[in-house]
Amino acid sequence: MVNDITNQINALKNQFKTTLKAVVTEHALENLRIEFLGRKGHIAALMKQLKTLTLEEKQAIGPLINELKQDIEKEYDLKKQMLLEKNMQQAALKQQNFDVTAYKPKPLQSSLHIYTHLIERLENIFIAMGYEITDGPEVETDYYNFEALNIPADHPARELHDTFWLHIPNMLLRTHTSTVQAHAMEANGPPLALFAPGRCYRNEATDASHDFMFMQAEGLVIDKDISMAHLLATAQNFLQEFFEKKDLNIRVRPGYFPFVEPGVEIDASCPFCTTGCSVCKKTGWIELLGAGLVHPNVLQCSGIDPEHYSGFAFGCGLERLAMIKHGIYDIRLFRSSKINVLKQF
Ligand code: PHE
Repeated sequence: MVNDITNQINALKNQFKTTLKAVVTEHALENLRIEFLGRKGHIAALMKQLKTLTLEEKQAIGPLINELKQDIEKEYDLKKQMLLEKNMQQAALKQQNFDVTAYKPKPLQSSLHIYTHLIERLENIFIAMGYEITDGPEVETDYYNFEALNIPADHPARELHDTFWLHIPNMLLRTHTSTVQAHAMEANGPPLALFAPGRCYRNEATDASHDFMFMQAEGLVIDKDISMAHLLATAQNFLQEFFEKKDLNIRVRPGYFPFVEPGVEIDASCPFCTTGCSVCKKTGWIELLGAGLVHPNVLQCSGIDPEHYSGFAFGCGLERLAMIKHGIYDIRLFRSSKINVLKQF
């Protein structure tokens, strides 16, 4: 009996060694562990046989079985560690050899950003009316954003513009595109007819209709005998073209902007209804442009004689135009980079 068990122990020792050598996966190693160390495994079977032996025999065989068990556990642990390391190395190697050119995603259909569409469309409308397209810097001086526009340092209108001031004295991010007025008048003098779309900034909280960065466009015409009639005809023509509605009407209300006199706000008749809808908030009118006749102080400030020249200016928010035309409900979508929004344009 004792001899038999000793033989078994030796045989198991050899069997474990040779099988372990052939193991290359963690799964096979686990199976081997169960076969030898599991509750119904070879070691457990030896222990069972041990119970049938005499005390003396137990004292001789017991340590042999223990030794076998410890050997097996040690070799199992070593192999397990080795396999883990090998797997990690292989994973790293796989990553190293990853062929980035092998995966070729379906090309995304690209399209122009809505801003690009919008600006192109507006520019075309004004080019057709004989305007020149210009722009100005987004980082501006106090002078061009306020002073030259009849808004001196202590003027309360400054409070309407929540300005991002730079750390450099008198420098700011322009709060409106009206900054191009004085630049253009100084650089070219009259006659002038310009349209200047561009980015503006206001230091205010964002919501569905306000963003701290947005687009405006400025229109400016300076010549002899320019009157309110020119402004209104231009505004109506522009809005008719933009909304593709030949019977679009405009309405004028007084408005205050320090750089125009008189100043007006121009509303368009709702392009979508005649009786009131959600776009015009049941009023039939949509507020779209700030405008007016260029203030004599502004002309003078830029070296133009108000006795000989007059002009009109208007400004509009581009997002607002597009939101109304395309039914976009939140201004923040313009810069959100959401593919499902972008691909609609
Ligand atoms: N710059 C004005 C604004 O941002 C709009 C405006 C432009 C008003 C030109 C009158 C003339 O609100």
